Amino acid sequence: MRQSVISWSVFNGTAMDWLAGLEPGSVAAVVTDPPYGTTDGRGKRTVHGDRGEAAFGFEWDRELPVDWLGAAYAALRPGGALMAFTDNLAKRILWDAAEAAGFKGRQTFVWVKPEGGATPRPNFTSAYESGVFLVKPGPPTWNGGGAQVNVIHSRRAHSEIDGRTVFHPTQKPIMVMRWLVELVTDAGDLVVDPFMGSGSTGVAAVRGGRRFAGCDISPEYVATAMRRLECAAAFAPEPVNVGQIGLFEVADAT
Ligand SMILES: C[S@@+](CC[C@H](N)C(=O)[O-])C[C@H]1O[C@@H](n2cnc3c(N)ncnc32)[C@H](O)[C@@H]1O
Repeated sequence: MRQSVISWSVFNGTAMDWLAGLEPGSVAAVVTDPPYGTTDGRGKRTVHGDRGEAAFGFEWDRELPVDWLGAAYAALRPGGALMAFTDNLAKRILWDAAEAAGFKGRQTFVWVKPEGGATPRPNFTSAYESGVFLVKPGPPTWNGGGAQVNVIHSRRAHSEIDGRTVFHPTQKPIMVMRWLVELVTDAGDLVVDPFMGSGSTGVAAVRGGRRFAGCDISPEYVATAMRRLECAAAFAPEPVNVGQIGLFEVADAT
């Protein structure tokens, strides 16, 4: 086992305040998974027209925040990327708000999760999540070649420590986050996640040899992210070949 020299830091606070304190132009990519704004904090969905069918609800998920996009834009270097998961119906809201902040729209992307989920009502259970890809004008970093599809198949997240438990109720798989991080950054670049939760983006960044800085409003999730990052940084980075990940491939989640 070789000790990684990759640097990382985490912060407990709000995305908006934390991003505003970053050095302007210092960030290569913002790769994030903000609240979807789809539950009312008491276990009820407030979008999709079906109140009361969700099996979960989080206090932090009441609103889809967009106030942080201007600060994210300022922190990014020219050509820097924004990759953000969002609710399937709400991605236009995030996209339009990002363009209003100065970003140029590129594409949407999809993570297909073959296991789907469980729903107590006669309705589809969604087996995919989507996100938006926008850039700050300037020379871009793109490691996906000329035929990169905007779909990744991966099992749901599980713990890289015991392979079963999850650290966060909306945890994203490491391989999905590695795909996003490594498409738009190079080794040594700074990746940030202002809504990091349990730190999945950070683990992905560090394992791929990128520097990482992250923030979450919850002190418990910040503590979890710190533990995960300490483990990830104990190993030498091994970037993946992002050109080999994509359509029809069911990637291992971690
Ligand atoms: C969808 S979860 C991210 C989960 C993460 N992708 C993971 O794999 O663990 C969104 C996170 O945003 C945090 N959050 C909500 N509002 C916030 C704010 N204003 N500033 C910073 N973090 C916030 C929540 O505590 C939650 O952990």
